[in-house]
Amino acid sequence: MRILVTGAAGFIGSTVTDRMLADGHDVVGVDDLSTGKLQNLAAAATDSRFAFEKADVTGDGLAALFDRVRPEAVFHLAAQIDVRISINDPLLDARLNVLGTINVCEASRLAGVAKIVHTSSGGSIYGSPAVLPVAEDVPVAPESQYAAGKAAGELYLNVYRTTYGVSTTALALANVYGPRQDPHGEAGVIAIFGTAMLEGRPTKIFGDGTTSRDYVFVGDVADAFARSALPEAANGRRLNIGTGVETTVLDLHSRVARAVGVADEPLLAAPRAGELQRISLDCGLAERTIGWRPTVPLDEGLRRTVDWLRTSLERP
Ligand SMILES: NC(=O)c1ccc[n+]([C@@H]2O[C@H](COP(=O)([O-])OP(=O)(O)OC[C@H]3O[C@@H](n4cnc5c(N)ncnc54)[C@H](O)[C@@H]3O)[C@@H](O)[C@H]2O)c1
Repeated sequence: MRILVTGAAGFIGSTVTDRMLADGHDVVGVDDLSTGKLQNLAAAATDSRFAFEKADVTGDGLAALFDRVRPEAVFHLAAQIDVRISINDPLLDARLNVLGTINVCEASRLAGVAKIVHTSSGGSIYGSPAVLPVAEDVPVAPESQYAAGKAAGELYLNVYRTTYGVSTTALALANVYGPRQDPHGEAGVIAIFGTAMLEGRPTKIFGDGTTSRDYVFVGDVADAFARSALPEAANGRRLNIGTGVETTVLDLHSRVARAVGVADEPLLAAPRAGELQRISLDCGLAERTIGWRPTVPLDEGLRRTVDWLRTSLERP
């Protein structure tokens, strides 16, 4: 297949790109390099079946680009990913994450794309559900502008499926971690803890450390994209992609400290707005529809992530 990946130079997009190339597909990566790095695509760039296009998914030129590339499937990962940026600048978040998604849907329709796989956020769209792990049939209840934008993207996706017959799947990802996650950003607590510990700096936990998240390894997420590429795969569905396991920040801190080989001594700071207390995702539907389930246990994923962080910190 010919697959166009938006956000291809990012943490998850580059991992998905590598996976699709390994599976024998042609991949065109699209990214404006606002947070993504070409370094993430160094391996892909050596493959003759890969091409890179520097472009903004909110831009006027997107339809012409899609028309030139004529992809069979589009994986839409380009986004601003920081909940706090969405709270401080909701218009910026909506421009990138809502208008960007509409622009991708529209360009896909015009170019005759058969399948769009959208990246939603299972870690935020359900708000604070009464029962955990939360399944897809629970109504969305966003508690941040970022979550609202992701849920809105799903609604637009549904319009393009029902009105124009484009097949669609939304992958509602839990907290994704692994190699290439940006340790300098505000999101990605494992990369932030791991980098600070490797550099001998103190680590900070916001709140009392009892908030919990569902951490899924990036390689498993790439597998979910690979299994969603065909038009008939989970068409019209949102699939939760996580592990169903809740891990508290305190527990996570201990595990990262163990993987790095340092003392487990976090500093505690005031909690931040827009942070949910608890979340974990029931991923049974993904198993029933596309045969997906997580395969990398947390401590194994942390070991691989810390190995990567160590190597990247040693790079000049
Ligand atoms: N990391 C997580 O835990 C997580 C969880 C749920 C959902 N997601 C979603 O997964 C996707 C990828 O996230 P990530 O963690 O890899 O983040 P990332 O920041 O590494 O990747 C996003 C990529 O999109 C690019 N981009 C941003 N705005 C763009 C624009 N206007 N035009 C073109 N490219 C643009 C960036 O340069 C970057 O390469 C996002 O849609 C994010 O919302 C991530």
